Amino acid sequence: MKNNTHGLSQAQLDAHWMPFTSNREFKKDPRIIISAQGNYYTDADGRKIFDGLSGLWTCGAGHARPEITEAISKQSATLDYSPAFQYGHTKSFELAYRITELMPDSLNRVFFTGSGSESVETALKIARGYWRKQGLASKTRFIGRAKGYHGVNYGGISVGGLSPNRALFGQGIEACHLSHTMINDNKFIKGLPNEGTYLADELEQLVALHDASTIAAVIVEPLAGSAGVIPPPVGYLKRLREICTKHNILLIFDEVITAFGRMGSNTGAEEFGVIPDLMTVAKQLTNGVIPMGAVIAKQEIYDTYMETGGPEYMLELPHGYTYSAHPIACAAALASLDILAKENLPERVKDIAPYFQNSLHGLKGCSHITDIRNYGLAGGITIEALGAEQGKAEPAKRPYEIAMKMWKKGFYVRYGGDTIQLGMPFTSTLPEIDSLINALGETINEIR
Ligand SMILES: Cc1ncc(COP(=O)(O)O)c(C=O)c1O
Repeated sequence: MKNNTHGLSQAQLDAHWMPFTSNREFKKDPRIIISAQGNYYTDADGRKIFDGLSGLWTCGAGHARPEITEAISKQSATLDYSPAFQYGHTKSFELAYRITELMPDSLNRVFFTGSGSESVETALKIARGYWRKQGLASKTRFIGRAKGYHGVNYGGISVGGLSPNRALFGQGIEACHLSHTMINDNKFIKGLPNEGTYLADELEQLVALHDASTIAAVIVEPLAGSAGVIPPPVGYLKRLREICTKHNILLIFDEVITAFGRMGSNTGAEEFGVIPDLMTVAKQLTNGVIPMGAVIAKQEIYDTYMETGGPEYMLELPHGYTYSAHPIACAAALASLDILAKENLPERVKDIAPYFQNSLHGLKGCSHITDIRNYGLAGGITIEALGAEQGKAEPAKRPYEIAMKMWKKGFYVRYGGDTIQLGMPFTSTLPEIDSLINALGETINEIR
């Protein structure tokens, strides 16, 4: 056993092939987290580290909430597992109903999954099946958006628009892409940009090219998170909605990051005033404590499946996961949604978002920063690629160095591509926002 503070041997470190991680680098100098409480982690050296991304956009209510811990413990002692197919338990119905209360009225049928990626695959399948059940089996194509992130399964990477996540894996499903909205006119804009609404009209061109008879659905994140926080231009989502409705194409909002408080509302749909036909959620649903996702569908979609389901003993949708509506996940989600409601956390996000916005945009002028974006408690900073001037661009190098230096200083922030991403806990205090942003500014100025 190697003598180090985390107590793990090299063989143990090597045994775990870590996800979305530079394994070789990590295993030389591991960043091991031992515990979490409130807005802080404690690492193997006993250092407190501020959680500047709420886990992975998951733990907005802070870590180790006793209400969730108790709910999980009680549930595991009462009903630890219940077969997900053809049998039910009370918590899943309570939770489904509770979720519909947080949705725009017409989104009122909930299908449970185990993650954001599973939610996306489920929504894509529901969309295709819906058209087939209507006798429109040629409507199979999907339209995503450049820089979109919809998880890592084949449907998700096909509609996704982050090239590193696709390049290695070959053929996916039929999908084409709208342009992203991170245009030059929108640099350093606070909140929603006014420019770029016209980019939604590209959907008309794609419909003209492929014909609506081949298109099942458009899928977008209302605010793109993983690409580095790209808020939608004013009116953009509304325009997408109009074009989808006009051409009989379903609109899917991937709200895996934006649902349950991050935008200062229950959902991005509510915040931006546009109602999709299907919505995918996960992450904040259980405050990140237990994996769980869901797809929320308009009743008309559910009804179509029921009406065309054949004899009543037959399955209407041959799809589901062993862990769909897992009882412990349901208990955690109910407790988590209780906390959001009792502590008015979406409103709290709305209240402190302007402070966060001003603080974040105060970084303009630091070295290497070429853009800053924000909405609610989500912030993104673009860092100029190292070596860009010499034509040897390494876009991820500086963000990586910034994130590693921040970790050493006691702050966890995410780096992805050429961006630094912030997703503060909903329970952040104003001094915590200040200390994170100050440390970030100092660190960005330190790197070469
Ligand atoms: C918008 C969006 N969709 C899907 C996913 C995939 O979720 P998961 O990692 O739980 O599969 C993510 C994860 O970040 C996401 O941000």
